[in-house]
Amino acid sequence: MNRFLAPAKVNLFLHVMGRRDDGYHLLRTVMTFFPLYDILEMDVGGNEVTLACHPPVTGNPEQNLVVRAARLLQKNCNCRQGVHISLTKNIPAAAGLGGGSSDAATTLMALNRLWSLGLSQTELAEIGLTLGADVPLFIGQKTALAEGIGEQLTPMETLPTFPLLLINPGVPVSTPAAFSGLNGRWPERDANWSLAEGLQENDALTWMENDLESPARCLAPEIDTVFQALHQQGARMVRMSGSGASVFGVFESDNQLIFAAESIKSQYNNWLVFSGRTFHIHPFASG
Ligand code: C5P
Repeated sequence: MNRFLAPAKVNLFLHVMGRRDDGYHLLRTVMTFFPLYDILEMDVGGNEVTLACHPPVTGNPEQNLVVRAARLLQKNCNCRQGVHISLTKNIPAAAGLGGGSSDAATTLMALNRLWSLGLSQTELAEIGLTLGADVPLFIGQKTALAEGIGEQLTPMETLPTFPLLLINPGVPVSTPAAFSGLNGRWPERDANWSLAEGLQENDALTWMENDLESPARCLAPEIDTVFQALHQQGARMVRMSGSGASVFGVFESDNQLIFAAESIKSQYNNWLVFSGRTFHIHPFASG
């Protein structure tokens, strides 16, 4: 039995820069990892790809990104090996945390190793991009500035890490719905501004925004309540991740974070509340 972790990601900010002819939006976003993990256990054998999910999911298992990732690898590499995958879901779905993309990326990286396929990181990322715009980030294995639709990655390991209180109010938000809620409008920004240099400035991140916040708030008004709760607890920066509805607050100290987590849990018992420090290197890189 081989065990692999698929971490969540958070977007420290997300700027929409344009839209392609195929409807995909061009982005500028920094994504980093958060210590909330799905767990994938893999048994190589036979020539089928099978999946067991814990807790069980409704919906067609054939559509699960883990199964699609494994089949895509078989097809691309003319590979006749099979695998049984057991997936333990801890990352909420449709939450802006990249759970499905992370599962797909871990599947591609793990099977590349277990099936001895010898694909490069670039080849895996190209395959991964056909499954989801966030998959290449996880295959890149590092905190990164993502441009294009998410596939042009610049590693950003020199950024600080942040103690976060991450909250999901239990309302799924569909990513296509959040993007289409923009109605083709977003703030005008200087595409030539050197983001890499700008981000080294002290506290530059505090004024960067997530352009999907406004359409996501229309789809899930609970997002407003999470913002209010985190501000009330004294978070120095509050931001939505991805297309929502997860929202995180950055706190000055671990003590403040623990206090805020307890206080919010006692007031809102149907919210998922996670605390932890962001990190820069994907666990797959270390083994
Ligand atoms: O690639 P992913 O599955 O994450 O995207 C889901 C949907 O979100 C896409 O079909 C598209 O409608 C929208 N999207 C977008 N621009 C992006 C990423 C996603 O418009 N950069």
